Amino acid sequence: MTEFNNTHDFEEVTPANTMKFFATEPEQGVFDYSGAETFLSIVTPTKKYIRCHNLIWKSQLSSWVTSPAVPWTNATLSAVLYNHAYNLVSHFGDACYSWDVVNEAFADSPAGAYDNSSIWEQIIGPEYVPMAFQAATDAVRDGNLSVKLYYNDYGIESAGAKSTAAQTLVSQLKARDIQIDGVGFESHFIVGETPSQSAQQANMEAFIALGVDVVVTELDVRLSLPPTVATETQQVADFYNTVAACVGAKKGTGSHGCVGVVVWDFVDTYSWIPTTFVGQGYGTPWLQPGGANTTLVKKAVYDGILEAL
Ligand code: XIL
Repeated sequence: MTEFNNTHDFEEVTPANTMKFFATEPEQGVFDYSGAETFLSIVTPTKKYIRCHNLIWKSQLSSWVTSPAVPWTNATLSAVLYNHAYNLVSHFGDACYSWDVVNEAFADSPAGAYDNSSIWEQIIGPEYVPMAFQAATDAVRDGNLSVKLYYNDYGIESAGAKSTAAQTLVSQLKARDIQIDGVGFESHFIVGETPSQSAQQANMEAFIALGVDVVVTELDVRLSLPPTVATETQQVADFYNTVAACVGAKKGTGSHGCVGVVVWDFVDTYSWIPTTFVGQGYGTPWLQPGGANTTLVKKAVYDGILEAL
């Protein structure tokens, strides 16, 4: 079988854009859930796990947040943050298996510092992160929900300053009795530069040991176009390494473990890669040789994924 089978190939799904801030709170205090509801109506019949994405991030904000009529103060922006996170978690309730509460809080340089190009960090400081988790925690407790709360980032897929910073955050939240159930590893990799299976697995196990689940949340492996036999072969190994690390990660106390792998855009035709990383692409498991809206065909990496399972 070479064609795409929606029911058979996935049991977990993430909306790429429809739940983001700009889409859900286009005007202050005015929530628009229409795009997200359309997404949910499509996926709910066949998907077991819906990973809702995301509540608080520096990007894809509404312009009223980034260019306010009156400059924000710590108090006014904190209220915005709390209200947004609380409302979304409450509204979607247990339709979401999990929420990425905070996305990409840490900088690449200096690695592991709080990213001060974020308006949340600039106005509120690092406390914005626990604040967002507290809002989500309150919504979970008030609604008696079972939705799981995640921190999600890239560059934390193997040991290093960003991974250490994310582990510290998990410990700090737990010490304050603020709910955190998991950490998402985005895993936007470059062919041939994907961390080894053992490096990824050891890093996953370091998080699991803190008492959280981990998920590979946005896996893709980009390469310079056009692909060659060598880069495509390497890409199969790269996909394999990540999936095998998740499968191999040992369970911790409370049965925490690596509980899923999600690819970011599953067909090259619609992937975010070519527009974001010019000259690169071919990063997902499916192709549409006939162009948009035509039959999906599995690429070699599909077999790399299957082999790891
Ligand atoms: C990307 C989407 O795929 C694009 O359509 C959008 O223009 C920008 O955001 N990390 C994340 C995702 O957590 O939300 C980003 O998604 C990719 C990087």
